[in-house]
Amino acid sequence: MTAVVVVGTQLGDEGKGKVIDLFSERTNLVVRFQGGDNAGHTVVVGDDEFKLHLVPSGSVRGKRVVVGNGCVVNPEVLLGEIGELKSRGIEPEWFISGRAHVIMPYHIRLDGLEEDSKGEMAAGTTKRGIGPCYQDKVARRGVRVADLLDPDALREKLKYLLPLKTRELELYGSDCSLDLDVIFERYREFGERIADHVVEVSVLVNESLDRGENVLMEGAQGTHLDIDHGVYPFNTSSNTTSGGACTGSGVGVTRIDEVIGVAKAYLSRVGTGPLPTELEGETADFLVERGNEYGTTTGRRRRVGWQDVPMLRYSASVNGMTGLVVTSLDVLDGLDELQVCTHYRLDGEEVPHVPPTREWGRCEPVYEEFEPWSGVDWEGAAELGYDELDGEVRRYLSYLSEETGVEVIGVSVGPERRQTIINRDPF
Ligand code: IMP
Repeated sequence: MTAVVVVGTQLGDEGKGKVIDLFSERTNLVVRFQGGDNAGHTVVVGDDEFKLHLVPSGSVRGKRVVVGNGCVVNPEVLLGEIGELKSRGIEPEWFISGRAHVIMPYHIRLDGLEEDSKGEMAAGTTKRGIGPCYQDKVARRGVRVADLLDPDALREKLKYLLPLKTRELELYGSDCSLDLDVIFERYREFGERIADHVVEVSVLVNESLDRGENVLMEGAQGTHLDIDHGVYPFNTSSNTTSGGACTGSGVGVTRIDEVIGVAKAYLSRVGTGPLPTELEGETADFLVERGNEYGTTTGRRRRVGWQDVPMLRYSASVNGMTGLVVTSLDVLDGLDELQVCTHYRLDGEEVPHVPPTREWGRCEPVYEEFEPWSGVDWEGAAELGYDELDGEVRRYLSYLSEETGVEVIGVSVGPERRQTIINRDPF
């Protein structure tokens, strides 16, 4: 029996989908524990590409998958993804927590309007209604999945909520109407369609662990987008760090065996907010094109930068990481220069940690120069295995491991499963 949490160590888009797909080979259950369809996890199997936003990535291997109580769920997206998988011959057994909150149409409208009104405080959200849904959860007025199965409770809640949400929308100058009967009927019907899959997730996961099964907890976004540990307010609205796996699925901290952090070999960010190592010009274009740095959920071009070790150190510590997987290492192949930020300077002073405020944006990165590499036979390297990696590539990986104090347990050198070099499988 092993419970492994996989989290992003940076700002999302680290390649978690591929890593989760790989490690889920020997799991019985894969659990999403936070976020919603703001995530975009890509799994490539031969010529087939799967882009999943809400359904856990383990589904591609036909594993039992779970959407935990910490998630916010757009039922249309959930059912759409399940339907899409089915049309491609994949029918995973899936479960959802009755405690998860439901993204309602007004959340999506409010997300766009709030963002537009925020000026410099806007995070550049995915406009999927994530923030407004979590707001209602915390204010104890949200619609939960369980409410969709109880028509009387749903109608009662909507009677209270819709006038309130109409006023909120009006505050932002929107005059859109929220029709009680239409919304009630639509969400009641969603409830009927998901009713057979609604379970007490905490019981399901704990019983699976009691039986000695392997459970993988699938994190979304990244550590520096965490509502508490990310750079506020340019973050998402959930706990993307490993603690979120416990609260978001109802599993005690003592049951977690390993926390694996996924880090891209460089840095990318979609949305606004600080990025001290941000690159522009030819090197940025090189990384964007080689790394296909366009958002899976929004299609936006991602900003890119050099690897930022203070961010990784913070991630290692706040998540209690026991292993590191470095992804997109092949993308660095052929660069003219290779830099890694070791720490920052602000107003002449050394800053060893990521500042918790927008001061982070004023930090100047201090770099260590690495010898770039080119022409690596990655396919051959994947066949030879981790111990045979040498030269500049090995030095780069060893440096990241030493700086974070975490063993590199795997390296990804392309989107496909076989383009992976595993040093140690956590299961
Ligand atoms: P929200 O999660 O849609 O509210 O967006 C808040 C911030 O998190 C924005 O800067 C988004 O671009 C970013 N974000 C949300 N989900 C992801 C993701 O899966 N990958 C990368 N960035 C994300």
